[in-house]
Amino acid sequence: MKEKSIELLNKAVADELTAVHQYMYFHFHCDDQGYDLLAGLFKKTAIEEMIHIEQLAERILFLDGEVEMEASEKVKKIHDVKEMLKMAVEMEESSARDYNLWANECSANADSISKQLFESLVGDEERHFDQFDDEMNNMKKFGDNYLALQSIERSKNIATGGSAE
Ligand SMILES: [Fe+2]
Ligand SMILES: [Fe+2]
Repeated sequence: MKEKSIELLNKAVADELTAVHQYMYFHFHCDDQGYDLLAGLFKKTAIEEMIHIEQLAERILFLDGEVEMEASEKVKKIHDVKEMLKMAVEMEESSARDYNLWANECSANADSISKQLFESLVGDEERHFDQFDDEMNNMKKFGDNYLALQSIERSKNIATGGSAE
């Protein structure tokens, strides 16, 4: 029974590690291209996914399991901003779906603490989904101006002595 929870928690760790790697990769590239808003959003989200790993790991250790720190996927070398947002939206959608199912599985196995953990992660992933989805809609609405504005914002910050992310 405990083994099933440990297995699911470790699957979540693997997906969270993939998300941390992928979002940091997107962060570097957005930063390099001068898109501060998106660079900041990817970095902030990567840090939140890292905290998810910590919460999952604490639960695994409480259940006397081993934390398998293996990412489920390799980083996809995407440089196009629209493709980045599309992937991020899909990743968040699938995390929320998996964690909902895994919360139910933990509940069926009488492990209500792991169930609660998965449920709280669903809340965070849905919020991430919403943030990436909003940016994707902005991009559709404003087209190239969306990215141009971010570059101008950076130049403005530099010119007025503000700091870039
Ligand atoms: Fe997460
Ligand atoms: Fe997320």
